[in-house]
Amino acid sequence: MKLQDKVALVTGAAHRVGKAIALALAQEGAHIVLHYGGSVDAAGQTADEIAALGVDVFPFQADLSDPAQIAALFDALKERFGRLDVMVNSASSFERRPFDAITAEDWDRVMAVNLRAPFLCSQHAARLMCIEPREPLDAGLIVNIADLIGVSPRLGYTQHGVSKAGLIHLTKIAARELAPDIRVNAVVPGPVMAPAGMDPQGEAWEKIWKRVPLNRPGDPADVGRAVIFLAAGNYMTGAVIPVDGGEGLIGTP
Ligand SMILES: NC(=O)c1ccc[n+]([C@@H]2O[C@H](COP(=O)([O-])OP(=O)(O)OC[C@H]3O[C@@H](n4cnc5c(N)ncnc54)[C@H](OP(=O)(O)O)[C@@H]3O)[C@@H](O)[C@H]2O)c1
Repeated sequence: MKLQDKVALVTGAAHRVGKAIALALAQEGAHIVLHYGGSVDAAGQTADEIAALGVDVFPFQADLSDPAQIAALFDALKERFGRLDVMVNSASSFERRPFDAITAEDWDRVMAVNLRAPFLCSQHAARLMCIEPREPLDAGLIVNIADLIGVSPRLGYTQHGVSKAGLIHLTKIAARELAPDIRVNAVVPGPVMAPAGMDPQGEAWEKIWKRVPLNRPGDPADVGRAVIFLAAGNYMTGAVIPVDGGEGLIGTP
C-alpha cells in the first residue's frame, strides 16, 4: 500500500512507541488519527509535530477499556475522514503482579485494554476500511503491537503475557477472517524503550537490554519502520514480526 494521503489511526500515540509509529506513518504522507488516553499535553505536542510534516492530524481522547468510547472514536473518525486505511493497536497497559495476588478485577482490567480493545478496534476499523471496494494491492492494514512476553512467559507478568499471547492469536484469526480486503499483522518489540518510570540510563534497564544478542536497546523508531515495512508488504498477512534485537532467540528473563 502506498501511504500518501491514506488515513491511519494509531492508538496510544501521544508519546513513546505509539508516537514513533504515528510519526513514521506521517513521514510517508498518511493523515493521522492520534488516539490518546490521559496524556493530553503530550498528545498536543505530538499533533503539532505531525502537522509540521504537512499531513492532517486529528487527536482524539478515549478510554479504550470502555467499548462506548471506542465506538465514539470511530464515529468521530468516520465523520472527519470518511475512510480508514491503516489501524495500529499500540495502546497497552503494562502491569506486573505476583501470580497469587491477581484478582478477577486485575485480570479483567488488563484484558479490556490489551485484548478486547484491539478486537473491538479491529471490528470497527474493518467496517470503515471496506466502505469502498479495495484493490488487492491496496488492502486495508491492521497492525497489532504485541510483546515478547506474549510468546515467552516472563515471571510477574501473567495478565500482560496472556493478553499479548491472545493478541498474537487474534492477529492470525483476523488475518483469515478479514482477508482478502484487509491484511492483519503483528509486531513483537523487544526492549525498545524503558518502561515509564524506569531510568533509561539506569542499571535496571541496562540489565534488560544487555542480555539481548544485539547487546543494545532498540529505538521506538525501529517499531515505526516495521509498520512501514508491513504497509509496503502487500503479500503479508498473519505475520508476526519480531523487532527485538534477537531477544526472542533467548526468551524473556
Ligand atoms: N517499550 C517497549 O520496549 C516495548 C516492548 C515490548 C512491547 N511493547 C509494546 O509496544 C506498545 C507501545 O509501547 P509503550 O512502551 O509506548 O507503551 P506504554 O507507554 O506502556 O503505553 C502506551 C499507551 O497506551 C495508552 N493506554 C493505556 N491504557 C489505556 C486506556 N485504558 N485507554 C486509552 N489509552 C490507554 C497510554 O496512553 P496515555 O498516555 O495517553 O494515557 C499509553 O501512552 C505496547 O503495546 C507495548 O506492549 C513495548
